[in-house]
Amino acid sequence: MENRIVLFSNIKGGVGKTTLCALFASYLAENGIPVIAIDADLQASLYRHRQREQDVAVGVQAPWNVDLLDTTDSKQLKKVMTQLKKVPGVVLIDCPGNLNDRNLEYIYKSADTAVIPISFDPDTVDATGIFIKALKSISEAQLVFMPNRIITSERKSEELRQRAQTTELLGLVGTVTPTIKQSVTVKRYTTLYPLEKAQLDIVKPAFNKIMEIIK
Ligand SMILES: Nc1ncnc2c1ncn2[C@@H]1O[C@H](COP(=O)(O)OP(=O)(O)OP(=O)(O)O)[C@@H](O)[C@H]1O
Ligand SMILES: [Mg+2]
Repeated sequence: MENRIVLFSNIKGGVGKTTLCALFASYLAENGIPVIAIDADLQASLYRHRQREQDVAVGVQAPWNVDLLDTTDSKQLKKVMTQLKKVPGVVLIDCPGNLNDRNLEYIYKSADTAVIPISFDPDTVDATGIFIKALKSISEAQLVFMPNRIITSERKSEELRQRAQTTELLGLVGTVTPTIKQSVTVKRYTTLYPLEKAQLDIVKPAFNKIMEIIK
């Protein structure tokens, strides 16, 4: 497969970048697509998650690799991004939220697709708007919005109206995937084992949409 650089990014924290990046990596691997994950976040959540799992699952073969990416050294970062562009298959990058770091431009510029997890609360919608503007000024990446942690119980009509309006607006600048609901099944992700049936049921429509886009 051709190289594809796919970011999981949003200036807003806690929207599900790391969780969805890990689940999508497993999903691609299970579908026979070569994939590596790059943890570019200083928190190194994805990398540490994998390490914790491997500490207790000694000898278990990981379905995909996770590498840390140091974003502080601009020369080195530029070099690594050039190398990542040559990797056959999909390179998923779990990005930091921070937009002030000029070095991150190297990552944004080399991206083919940016998956942007969102929720529909006004704070996240506003922050995402700021992020889109900044991203579009430096990158030609296709934007894919992924509504995540969506509570499926009955909503007030005003809230539903706002959701529809936000979805419509985001649809003008990118693709909006089917929603991923708030669920402990999604929260309890693993980076070593296949997705559980219950996880698949929740993420499959959204993940198939990204697959279609990056094909
Ligand atoms: N669909 C979901 N259902 C339930 N919990 C979720 C879901 N997606 C993410 N979470 C939880 O939300 C929290 C934030 O998720 P995550 O760490 O993936 O977000 P993030 O955008 O990477 O955060 P950060 O900005 O800190 O890097 C975590 O506790 C995670 O377990
Ligand atoms: Mg994260």
